[in-house]
Amino acid sequence: MKIAIINGSPKGKNSITLQTSIYLSKKYPEHEYKILNASQIIKLLEKDFTRAREILEWAEVIVFSYPVYTFIAPYGLHRFFELVKADGVDLSGKYATQISTSKHFFDVTAARYVEENISDLGMRYVTGLLADMDDLLNKKGREEAVSFFEYFVYSVNEGLDNSRPRRFTEGEYVPATVAVPETESCKELEGKDIVIITDETDPESSLSRMIERFKAKLGVMPRIVNISEYNLQGGCIGCFSCAVSGKCVYTDGFDEFLRTKIQTADAIVYAFTVRDHSMGSRFKMYDDRNFCNGHRTVTVGMPVGYLASGRYSEEENLSNIIEARASVGHNYLAGVATDETDPDREIDALISRLRYALINKYVPPKTFWGVGGMKIFRDLIYQMRGMMRADHKFYKKNGYYDFPQKKWWSSLPMYFVGFLLGNDKIRKKIRGKMNEGMLMPYTKLFKKEFGE
Ligand SMILES: Cc1cc2nc3c(=O)[nH]c(=O)nc-3n(C[C@H](O)[C@H](O)[C@H](O)COP(=O)(O)O)c2cc1C
Repeated sequence: MKIAIINGSPKGKNSITLQTSIYLSKKYPEHEYKILNASQIIKLLEKDFTRAREILEWAEVIVFSYPVYTFIAPYGLHRFFELVKADGVDLSGKYATQISTSKHFFDVTAARYVEENISDLGMRYVTGLLADMDDLLNKKGREEAVSFFEYFVYSVNEGLDNSRPRRFTEGEYVPATVAVPETESCKELEGKDIVIITDETDPESSLSRMIERFKAKLGVMPRIVNISEYNLQGGCIGCFSCAVSGKCVYTDGFDEFLRTKIQTADAIVYAFTVRDHSMGSRFKMYDDRNFCNGHRTVTVGMPVGYLASGRYSEEENLSNIIEARASVGHNYLAGVATDETDPDREIDALISRLRYALINKYVPPKTFWGVGGMKIFRDLIYQMRGMMRADHKFYKKNGYYDFPQKKWWSSLPMYFVGFLLGNDKIRKKIRGKMNEGMLMPYTKLFKKEFGE
């Protein structure tokens, strides 16, 4: 088979993820392989796509190889999908799969994004390999890589694929009309710094009108940060130079800007157009560059909201990412207002919820996404504390190292319960009383609070 490996890591040939494909190519030399370091040379591909088109046309099957970057794929791969679609190269009917490495923090949402783009291009998708970044260095990881590859080859030979039935509407999107009323004022929000972060450049677009309505109805003037106008020199290159000091290798001042102009806000509203099942490549560049902040949840408690132009209701994966991001950051997600059916009502509701959260400091508890995500971060930062010094300091200071072994006070009584349940006679006696026992602290609480 002629196999094209599209390398979405900005590290090019130094990509950890790429090593899996190289390993497999050495194990299975009967196939032909070509590697395109797409993410690393994305600026060149923007100017001239010929090299990429040649490889894509040559290939019988395509492997997207990339690191997971902030819940999804890196900026370079986002941009690459934009370029492939703009070029119009016909990939329909070809087989495609993916190999990612990460610490498994939202590798699934990243994979779904890649799968959705593979589907857009009319390719036949075979479920990929979502590995830990260290997997290839251990026997089990290598075995998993090998069995993945054999499964992939088997699928291609047998004409099998895992493509899901399409559920995205094609064709031109026509947004509902957004009305922009007179500017209102709201005393309760006076002095609040609400920032709108957007990549919109067209003042006539539906998204611009959504922003205008939001500004008019909010009650105070929000600050606008346009990331298309900000001179970002490029996407994160994954060099980890920021791990100790938080200082980015780029000299565009974004690290400082992020800390002094964005993270200081009282609330953030992101305004974007749905593109290729994500917020688009410019937002991805912005998100990846946030890595200079490491894994520090510095905006805990800050309400966030979104203005989305496009068929957002079809984008289940993107919606998961947006909800998960809020949960991991322990932010209240005030909503995602879209221009699909009733933008005026949705924008006004978003404002009402933002206002409520700002005034009442409303923050709901984290969900599975936030709790699970932070446990991955906790273990990762602890293990890498020698290098990720800024994160380690932050996690120590904020008590994020809540390893189970520290909770003796809650695990000791379980030994006692375990001992009782281990004895047949006692277990029969206490059967049915377990639930009552578990309710005892609640009975105590009600007595204390309400005297019941
Ligand atoms: C900017 C940035 C964002 C990252 N985001 C995630 C993430 O969301 N989830 C995760 O598990 N790992 C994340 N990682 C870790 C990388 O996925 C991991 O180190 C990967 O193996 C790097 O592969 P590469 O060498 O092929 O680029 C991130 C790393 C960087 C530099």
